[in-house]
Amino acid sequence: MRISKVFMKCVSAANLTRQIEYYSRFSPSPLSIKQLIDFGADACEQTSFAFLRHEMPVRMANIMKEINLLPSPLFQTPSVQLVYSWFSRSFTELLKYQNTNENDENILKSFTKTLVGIRNRHNDVVPTMAQGVLQFKSFGMEPLNNQNVQYFLDRFYMSRISFRMLINHHTLLFDDSKRPAQSRHIGSIDPNCDAVKIVKDAYENSKLLCDQFYSGCPGLEISTHNSQDKDEPFGVVYIPSHLHHMLFELFKNAMRATVEHHNKRGSTYPPLNVLVILGKEDLTIKISDRGGGVPLSKIDLLFDYMYSTAPPPHEHRARAAPLAGFGYGLPISRLYARYFQGELNLLSLEGFGTDAFIYLKALSSESVERLPVFNRTAFRNYMDQPGADDWCAPSREPRNILQITGRPQMRRPSHVRNERHSPRSRSVNLKQSLHITTT
Ligand SMILES: Nc1ncnc2c1ncn2[C@@H]1O[C@H](COP(=O)(O)OP(=O)(O)O)[C@@H](O)[C@H]1O
Ligand SMILES: [Mg+2]
Repeated sequence: MRISKVFMKCVSAANLTRQIEYYSRFSPSPLSIKQLIDFGADACEQTSFAFLRHEMPVRMANIMKEINLLPSPLFQTPSVQLVYSWFSRSFTELLKYQNTNENDENILKSFTKTLVGIRNRHNDVVPTMAQGVLQFKSFGMEPLNNQNVQYFLDRFYMSRISFRMLINHHTLLFDDSKRPAQSRHIGSIDPNCDAVKIVKDAYENSKLLCDQFYSGCPGLEISTHNSQDKDEPFGVVYIPSHLHHMLFELFKNAMRATVEHHNKRGSTYPPLNVLVILGKEDLTIKISDRGGGVPLSKIDLLFDYMYSTAPPPHEHRARAAPLAGFGYGLPISRLYARYFQGELNLLSLEGFGTDAFIYLKALSSESVERLPVFNRTAFRNYMDQPGADDWCAPSREPRNILQITGRPQMRRPSHVRNERHSPRSRSVNLKQSLHITTT
């Protein structure tokens, strides 16, 4: 009896691997916001079902292949194993719908229920994966692995944003219990998303935390510029929750920097200046603070997962949205911006302040999902060892040039290039050169 159970488990594991292999050979099909809107306006549940029952396993299989390529000590952590088991289960559940009849009401209902179950199961993927990476870091991660892990996390979280986008869109359109009574939204998309209003909302939500934490907060000054039509509001076709997420994170950072920088000097807080600009191609939001900025040497670190200059938040307060400390705010916000072909950048003037920029596509036809695909290039990114740096590493202490060589640095012909100068020959050269320069 026990043997047959073990046997069945092996068979289903082998079958799962085969199915992952099969679906990972398909490339995900990115959708534009316009397609999502058009589709939502027609709202044909059968079409959505037929698309998702194939597309969801394809996106999952693609990213599961990459989870499998993680360095073994990271893959083996209980947290990553748990995340992988959620994916395996959700993937298997979706496969049940492959050859079912899309005209059967019960199947459509059951599919929507399955999607809701998957969304709930994956609710804690971000903190659980973060926990796994922390465990892995405690083993003393090497720089190569760190690069791989950053590369992986960007792709992994991006594909998670896309699962949730598709699930939310479907359930908001077809799950009656979730459909808001009167709303201009189409699924999770607002065809007339008011960027300025979301700026104000995100500021207020962030201000609540800042006031709680520091008993004070910088004010907000907004200016706008609509280069297309000066009298029109800043409507753009977008997902309000995504824009809110980015702005909320940027405001928290700007507030923390401003309060901490100015507390030391005992002065009042300079306000955060926000500029919202609608151009032909881009909607750009700039948030400027005077929080002392970041030195150039640290700028590249800011988008690293888990890079934070804030103390780690209290564990028991972890659920109560801390102001800072996980180091996930910037990298995840950048993914949200990039998801629909936008961007998020930071420019900083150390000793003064920081400008953060969010770029979104102004046209919904150009806002196309940016999705990872598992292919040879991705595979190589996990496998390749980095070569030697082709830029010289500066030494810590300025070297005495005269002790290194007596001649101006010239490339030797290749046949002598591998010869090494003995200290003796070096000193001879040094003497010769001193002779030349002093006579
Ligand atoms: N506006 C800013 N001014 C100064 N430093 C900033 C600003 N935004 C981000 N940073 C720096 O970048 C780090 C990472 O930010 P983030 O990813 O949001 O993580 P967290 O806020 O949890 O630390 C912060 O800890 C801070 O050192
Ligand atoms: Mg932050």
